[in-house]
Amino acid sequence: MKRGSFNSKLGFILAASGSAVGLGNIWKFPFEVSNGGGAAFLIMYLFFCFILCFPVIVSEIAIGRKTKKNAIGAFNSLGHRNWNFIGKMGVLCGVLILSFYTVVAGWVLGYVVEMVNGNFDISNNFGSYVNNIQNVFLYSILFMFFTALIVSRGVEKGIERAAKILMPSLIIIILMLIIYALTLPNSIDGIIFYLVPDFSQINLTVAGNALGQAFFSLSLGMGMLITYGSYVDSKNNIINSAALITLTDVGIAFLSGLIIFPFIFSSGIETEGGPGLIFQVFPKIFENLGDTTGVLVGSTFFILLSFAAITSTVSLLEVPVSYLVDEYKINRKYSVWIVAFIILLIGIPSALSQGKYEFFSQFITYFGSEKPIDFMTFIIDVSNDTLLPFGGFMITMYVTYIWRKKNLSEEISRGNPDYKGSAVEKYINFSISYVCPLILGSIFLITFLNKFFGI
Ligand code: PFF
Repeated sequence: MKRGSFNSKLGFILAASGSAVGLGNIWKFPFEVSNGGGAAFLIMYLFFCFILCFPVIVSEIAIGRKTKKNAIGAFNSLGHRNWNFIGKMGVLCGVLILSFYTVVAGWVLGYVVEMVNGNFDISNNFGSYVNNIQNVFLYSILFMFFTALIVSRGVEKGIERAAKILMPSLIIIILMLIIYALTLPNSIDGIIFYLVPDFSQINLTVAGNALGQAFFSLSLGMGMLITYGSYVDSKNNIINSAALITLTDVGIAFLSGLIIFPFIFSSGIETEGGPGLIFQVFPKIFENLGDTTGVLVGSTFFILLSFAAITSTVSLLEVPVSYLVDEYKINRKYSVWIVAFIILLIGIPSALSQGKYEFFSQFITYFGSEKPIDFMTFIIDVSNDTLLPFGGFMITMYVTYIWRKKNLSEEISRGNPDYKGSAVEKYINFSISYVCPLILGSIFLITFLNKFFGI
């Protein structure tokens, strides 16, 4: 069976940026920013992305490209079977993320339809909307169906082609919406909130959230970039690609803040933030724009979100699929539909966790906390805030002590002859062995103990 590959450098960069840019940038980022002191959170997030995450991105791509294998097989292929637990954890984490991601993406898809129909009242009914189980299932299944359709066509004809159409469209929609947002009255207040830092809000919880957000947003720490990296040829310059992916991801998160905060502040709507933020506040904002403009801007906004989400769900599905195809030689189409089906089943508790069913809505109470949390939040805590940073940490350990930095340099310099001896090499090597493990490891450990055990 011939293994898939990206047809062009641009194709890889668009697909990997497509994975990175997702609900994390447009749905999750704004409410993390508002909980974390506006720009104070933003600054920390940028620091984590460029300083801590960048060397991990480079390492994941290098491991994938060197071995031409999936997230688990890559470790076996380098002769370190004992370390393939990093990949196993990654596949598990990808499955968990995709299970709740599909539910939220289903809400988004449903909102496109509501906006097209001018049903702005939905903002007052978000609670009952997400508990309209039939609807939620219908749209989640539909979303998974489109995702599976793209992945089943393979790397070049499916993943790469979809990214080449969706990513440029996404950027155009974002720019249009920013221009529009900045012309709204009082938009400047939103910009001030967003860009003037309130450092008093920074504490360890916020730092932990910013770290989790950086990993989630960059699709890092679960072998996604090992998988996509395995479809890249050795002429590719890994450093440049990694820089472009990071810049696109961070850039789009930043730009979406320029849409969201002016919208919120110009509408004068009081919001508590949280996961409902864009679902509860935005339809109201669109309503204030008047019927025609409201329908137009509202549906464009949720189409933007759907585009962002689908290039991410595609990459999440590709991680386990690539594993089954490589290791068990199971036909791609067959693997895709089986995995998609299983993940939909795993997502059911998340879909049921929004209030109607007490068991899932008050699923677990962590030690040292009194408030029970719902199943979806629990899965997000386990996957985003725990498994991803831990996976990233283990990658830095693996590269430093097992695979060795000289092999990393060797692989990077295959598409980048000037790399060896350069300042970038020194920076990556220093960072991967000292800065990343130290900072990543300690923030991870502290937030983990704090979140789950109240220590
Ligand atoms: N980066 C995506 C987002 O910001 O929405 C989420 C994600 C996609 C995480 C793919 C992990 C992944 F492998």
